[in-house]
Amino acid sequence: MSQVHVIDHPLIQHKLTLMRQIETGTKDFRELLEEISMLMCYEVTRNLPLEEVEIETPICKCRSKVIAGKKLGIVPILRAGLGMVDGFIRLVPACKVGHIGLYRDPETHEPVEYYCKLPSDASERELVVVDPMLATGGSSSAAITFLKDRGCKNIKLVCLVGAPEGIKVVQDDHPDVDIYIAAIDEKLNDHAYIVPGLGDAGDRLFGTK
Ligand code: PRP
Ligand code: URA
Repeated sequence: MSQVHVIDHPLIQHKLTLMRQIETGTKDFRELLEEISMLMCYEVTRNLPLEEVEIETPICKCRSKVIAGKKLGIVPILRAGLGMVDGFIRLVPACKVGHIGLYRDPETHEPVEYYCKLPSDASERELVVVDPMLATGGSSSAAITFLKDRGCKNIKLVCLVGAPEGIKVVQDDHPDVDIYIAAIDEKLNDHAYIVPGLGDAGDRLFGTK
């Protein structure tokens, strides 16, 4: 079974409360999502392996640590996942970015794929799938399946707000994928929106409603 890491740092909780509020406009919503993503990136990368290299300071030669091993790739699920990319890139500027386009069919709530572009070496990278919302889990699970079908093995999922139902779907479908999340909310409503949630993340991020 995969692990669910709830990242409930006070700064994240405070900023998430601001994002949830109906009166928070697109500019603030976007900035808050970027800031929270940066804080979550700090936690998600906590166990990256290190290696020692020889360097020279102004004082002397010494050995010092740098990140070793597999390189990172960020894979936002379009559209709302795009809002999490810059926060990660600010901390890991060398990471590559793949894109998976999925939208939920408004009637069936099933994910519909419309775009995919991955780094050519995606299967050799440690991939972090990002999407602020984990509702039914259909979109995240489909995106992870999509990556696995292309040979990717080392995958984490980072979301802002999730419903218990969606977390269970991803854990059942992908027991090898750990989930990092800022808040687990109460439930889904009849339209498969997270309650209390923050509404439609894509629309709030891009001002499309
Ligand atoms: C939202 C959200 C997730 C998905 C979550 O995207 O960003 O991708 O819904 O729902 P699920 O867990 O039930 O699949 P949406 O389909 O609204 O597309 P958008 O980001 O383009 O607005
Ligand atoms: N997609 C969103 O943007 N919000 C939800 O609550 C559910 C799906």
